[in-house]
Amino acid sequence: MPVITLKDGTKLEAAANRRLVLALEDSGIDILHRCGGHAQCTTCRVRFIAGEPETMTDAERERLQARGLLGTARLSCQVLCDHDMRVEVVNRLSASDFTDPGPRPDEAITPDPVWGARPDAGSQG
Ligand code: FES
Repeated sequence: MPVITLKDGTKLEAAANRRLVLALEDSGIDILHRCGGHAQCTTCRVRFIAGEPETMTDAERERLQARGLLGTARLSCQVLCDHDMRVEVVNRLSASDFTDPGPRPDEAITPDPVWGARPDAGSQG
């Protein structure tokens, strides 16, 4: 099973190919997902410290580009846990003014994923 390590060193086990947002939430991390995992809100974003996937859904790329976040953050609702990774969770319910994290994302990536290469893949060594 892939191991997800948080910035503070906490290690979580994720079922293979689980959406990262769900793996985090089901491990007790109060990550926000205000749009319900549809690559719209960017509240589920994480910063990769290690193991950033080289692929990206078109929906994620378009949203990150529109928000000026491409190259600095990834949307955990658009990332599958298919290898070990280390991430920093950016937005937590406990540090927000929201009363709930947002609608629960589906098990499968939404919208239907169209995969492409991460635009900056290979440029970080
Ligand atoms: S972009 Fe809204 S939950 Fe991921």
